[in-house]
Amino acid sequence: MIFDRRHIISTRDFSREEIDHVLDVAAKLEPLARKGRSGLLKDLIVATLFYEPSTRTRLSFEAAVKRLGGTTIGFDTATASSVAKGESLADTVRIIESYADAIVLRHPREGAARMASEIARVPVVNAGDGAGHHPTQTLLDLYTMRKECHKPIGDLNVAIVGDLRYGRTVHSLSYALSLYGARLTFVAPEPLKMPPSIINYLRRRGIQLTETPDLGRVLEDADVLYMTRIQKERFPDPAEYLKVAGSYRLTPEALQGVRDDLIVMHPLPRVDEIDPAVDASPHARYFQQSFYGVPVRMAVLCLVLGIKV
Ligand code: NCD
Repeated sequence: MIFDRRHIISTRDFSREEIDHVLDVAAKLEPLARKGRSGLLKDLIVATLFYEPSTRTRLSFEAAVKRLGGTTIGFDTATASSVAKGESLADTVRIIESYADAIVLRHPREGAARMASEIARVPVVNAGDGAGHHPTQTLLDLYTMRKECHKPIGDLNVAIVGDLRYGRTVHSLSYALSLYGARLTFVAPEPLKMPPSIINYLRRRGIQLTETPDLGRVLEDADVLYMTRIQKERFPDPAEYLKVAGSYRLTPEALQGVRDDLIVMHPLPRVDEIDPAVDASPHARYFQQSFYGVPVRMAVLCLVLGIKV
C-alpha cells in the first residue's frame, strides 16, 4: 500500500483496503487528536488554500497539523491573496509547492484539485472541489460509522438525504460505501437526485440501491441517516433553489419509531434540515462526527507525507 507522496483527490482512487488503512491510522492517532502535541510533523509545513468558505474542514486540518507539531500557511479567503489580482490557480500551486510539503485545497471549480495535483510535486489533498468530491469528509464519515454503528459498514442501510445533485460529500461517500457493499437509499426531490453517472456506477457494481423523494418511508429501515444541506450557492438560478429549499426537516417526532441504534449524521453546516431539538436525541452523532475530522486528517497527512505512525 503506497501512500507516501500520493494525492488525495477522489474516493474513487482508493481501494477498500487503503481506506481501512487510513481509518486504522486515525484510530491510533485519536487520543492525540483530543489532547497534546506530538513531533510527527516537526519541520514540515502544510499549506491550506481555501477559495471557498469553510469552518470544520479548514480548522480541523489546521488542528491536525498543530497536534502533529507541524506548521500551517495559507489563506481562508481568496480575496486576501493574489487571486484577487488575477493570479491563476496553476500559478498559485507552482508557487506554494516550493513553500510547503503538502497542499490542502478547496476550490469552487469541479476538477480543480485534480488539476493542481498534475502540477504540484508535493501531495495535494482535495478539501472539496465544487460539486465534485470531498474525500477527507468521506473518510471521517466512514470512521464515524465504524465507531458509532453496531454493525460492519457493509451491513448498514445508509439513507442519504437532501441535495444529492450538488452535494460533493454524498458523491464521495456513495463511491466509498459501494466498496463495502452497504445498502444505499437516496432521498431527494426530483431536481436534486443523484447524478446518473454515479447511479450507473453503483448499479454496475451491483449495489442495492433505492431512490425516493419520501423521507418518512425510509426512516424505520435505516441504520444511518445522513442528512445534507441544500447547496444554495451551486444553483445557477435562485428561483430553482427556492423551489426545493426546506424540502426536508428532521424533527424529534420524525425519529419516533426508528431503530434504537440508528445514527443521524450530517457533514455540517446545517441550515434547517435538522431541528436543533434533535441535538439532544440519543441518535444524533453529527458533532461527534465533526470531531473525528481531526484524527482522520492527521492520518491522511502522516500517510501522504510518509510519516510512520
Ligand atoms: C460540506 C462541504 O463543504 O461540502 N461541509 C464540510 O466540509 N463539512 C458540506 C456543505 O457545505 O454542505
